[in-house]
Amino acid sequence: MDKDAALERITNLRNLIEYHNNHYYQQDNPEISDIEYDRLMRELQELEKLYPDENIASSPTQRVGAAPLAKFVPLKHPSKMLSIKDAFSTKEIIDFDNSINRVFNSNELSYVIEPKIDGLAVNLIYEDGIFVSGATRGNGETGEDVTQNLKNISILPRQIKEIGNQPIPEFIEIRGEVYTEIEQLIIINRQRIENGEEPFANPRNFAAGSLRQLDPEITAQRPLKIYLYAVGNVRGIRFSTQWEVLQTLFEWGFPVNDLRKPAQDINACINYFEYIGTIRKNLPYKIDGVVIKVNSLKAQETLGSDFRRPRWALACKYPPIQEKTKIITIKAQVGRTGILTPVAIMEPVNIDGAEVRRATLHNMDEIGKKDIRIGDTVILERAGDVIPRIVRVDESIVRNGTETKFVMPTICEECGSKIIRLEGEAFYRCVGGLSCPAQRMWAIYHFGSRQAMDIDRLGEELVDRLVKSNIVKTPADLYKLDVSSLASLERMGNLSALNLIAAIENSKHTTLERFIYALGIPNIGESTAKSLAKFFGNLDRLMSAHPKTLQYIQDVGHKVAKSIYLFFSENHNREVISQLRTSGVFWDDPINNKAVMKTTLSHFLYWLCKKDEGDWKSIIGIAPEMAKLLTDNFIFEDLIKADESSLLKIEGIDEILANNIVQFFKETDNMRFIWKGVNGLGQKKSKLLVDKYGILENLITTDLTTLLKIRSINETLANNIVHFFKEPETIKVIEQLRKCGVSWDAEMHDTSVSASLVRGKVFVLTGTLKKLKRDEAKNKIEGLGGSVSGSVSKNTDFVVAGFEAGNKLKYAKQLGIEILDEDKFLTLLAEETNDDIQ
Ligand code: IVH
Repeated sequence: MDKDAALERITNLRNLIEYHNNHYYQQDNPEISDIEYDRLMRELQELEKLYPDENIASSPTQRVGAAPLAKFVPLKHPSKMLSIKDAFSTKEIIDFDNSINRVFNSNELSYVIEPKIDGLAVNLIYEDGIFVSGATRGNGETGEDVTQNLKNISILPRQIKEIGNQPIPEFIEIRGEVYTEIEQLIIINRQRIENGEEPFANPRNFAAGSLRQLDPEITAQRPLKIYLYAVGNVRGIRFSTQWEVLQTLFEWGFPVNDLRKPAQDINACINYFEYIGTIRKNLPYKIDGVVIKVNSLKAQETLGSDFRRPRWALACKYPPIQEKTKIITIKAQVGRTGILTPVAIMEPVNIDGAEVRRATLHNMDEIGKKDIRIGDTVILERAGDVIPRIVRVDESIVRNGTETKFVMPTICEECGSKIIRLEGEAFYRCVGGLSCPAQRMWAIYHFGSRQAMDIDRLGEELVDRLVKSNIVKTPADLYKLDVSSLASLERMGNLSALNLIAAIENSKHTTLERFIYALGIPNIGESTAKSLAKFFGNLDRLMSAHPKTLQYIQDVGHKVAKSIYLFFSENHNREVISQLRTSGVFWDDPINNKAVMKTTLSHFLYWLCKKDEGDWKSIIGIAPEMAKLLTDNFIFEDLIKADESSLLKIEGIDEILANNIVQFFKETDNMRFIWKGVNGLGQKKSKLLVDKYGILENLITTDLTTLLKIRSINETLANNIVHFFKEPETIKVIEQLRKCGVSWDAEMHDTSVSASLVRGKVFVLTGTLKKLKRDEAKNKIEGLGGSVSGSVSKNTDFVVAGFEAGNKLKYAKQLGIEILDEDKFLTLLAEETNDDIQ
């Protein structure tokens, strides 16, 4: 090719590559294969070398240092790269030796032992002594061509050094392990953490990440090393033993591990394995075991392999290295769904190639089980790739009293929202949702997902980029995007930006149920979102719903009601919703089916008055045993009012917990979850009240004297009822439900309620009865389907108090349990027997 033709070709190639770059990077829609692309790139590089011109600076070959490859090219290994069998005990090592002795006479064979380096296996090809190509192991048959990157490992000879006048092989595959020294890895990881990048988990990840760099310039800057330990196909010379292979590689100038050693028999191997085990911590590189190989290559051939694992080699593994360090503090880390995980922050310790400062403690139970405290010295280990794990507290170090227990915070460090523990869940959650940066990415992705706002093209990867670049902080920001703000994202072409904006625009017209689902309220799936939309009919009613109101919906229990309530209590969430509406997101409110909402008054009353202490135990975040201590020592009404000093009298409650409890009940929001209802108002009595009052308004405005005229309504109950209907909360819930279309008929004869006052009820008899013997009373109760218990508890329905009734009566009064004197008890029995309640 003459110069003019070459220059023309250069211009064409540059244009062509730019065109394909655009298709590949901007549009994610390549028109040619990676191999074709690389061919164009190489052709251009060659021509530019021969005919450098003044436009070279802007050539696509100059973009990122040396020419980056679009992707790696697969490279088939001339001979397969096998894997290796593992052994974890001396017994398994002996078994290995026995299996070999079954084929050969014992003592006939010797072994070679080498450290098993933790890095990345590669296969190098040398032709006539010159390094021509190298590939990663891949699947053992085909790897990725990383020739350019291997050339950047300075200690790897590009040419085999001749030994005297011995021949150089015309072709040889040499196998080895690319690795990095622990010190280097630590330095690099420190730097990465400073830059906000993810540190490498281990030397293998580092080696893999470095070798698989598309830009060889980056590899060149990485402190990579290599040890060679085996050969594959060889032409031109012959080896007879593994030891000879290692020695020859060494003499040819390759780095070969100097801990290699010939071993006469398996005992020598075991001894050496144990010896290396004692020094492995001090080696500058990470090893995860030693490899034992049969020395004779002929014997290796005879033994062959099964399942791609040779019968002549064994990897003897060491148990994970353990180190000690001190816990400086424990933090609650917010995950993508808002779940908090306690993480121990420790004095940095180097274990097995990584500087460890943090270890997850999984959950509060784990901390409790291992009794881990801030200030404790703990034993840490890393097994393989896994994240460091705290094995246990180091018992050899006596605690000095400054150690403290970890208490889950009540406010999220990331966003300032409340942290709650939901019923039946083992974990804690930040309710920040949309506003919590830790949860943002997930929240936005969920918002755009198909079942939610259905924003086409808003994939996980794009959301991640939008969030990381701070362009999108809340779902509302999506509706503020324009082409110019998107253009600042890498790999985002004009066309893609326009398409995305059109998809976002398209999503504006939605349905209420989709919108509710899109908000990502914890525990709200598609079907609950649908029920909520149908029941409330519009968003404002849902947003202001009281937890009790929410629970009127069939599939909404405690846990879900609280989740919804808390979500809408957060100002940031309300703000995002308001911005979304302002941006033009809209829907048609669903039509409410009033007929479905019809009920009878007695049913409604019973539901309304049902007591519900909620899950205050889990909200405060105390262990179940602790909750039991509290309920054993306090009746709920007193617990709400308890102060620190009275709580501290209970053994096992410390100041932090006492303070938490007091604070918890002081917060009115928390008290909202506790629906006190009317103690002692069951179905039967609800029915009685309806019979008496006819409509709800009459009951709401009743007074004590009127109520006391009703049989089986005693003073405590009457008081409770009056009090309950004076509570603004009660009226609020009734009003909210009415607005949603719930309605009730006053019924005179509500046959649907036929509960018995005795059947299924628990009685406690105390004091002396005059007209009945205890046994007789017991028989009568049991005859009517009730039961008699010896002690008063929350589950007691009635206490029958005879003469000189003592502590049981006192306790029953505290618990607000209905007390019957002997006469009332007899009337009750008579009524039940005649089945006459009118
Ligand atoms: S021998 C058939 N020797 O361990 C056995 N492997 O092999 C062929 N490894 O990922 C490999 N150090 O990269 C052998 N001295 C050593 C080794 C070694 C590390 C790695 C190798 C491969 C794995 C299993």
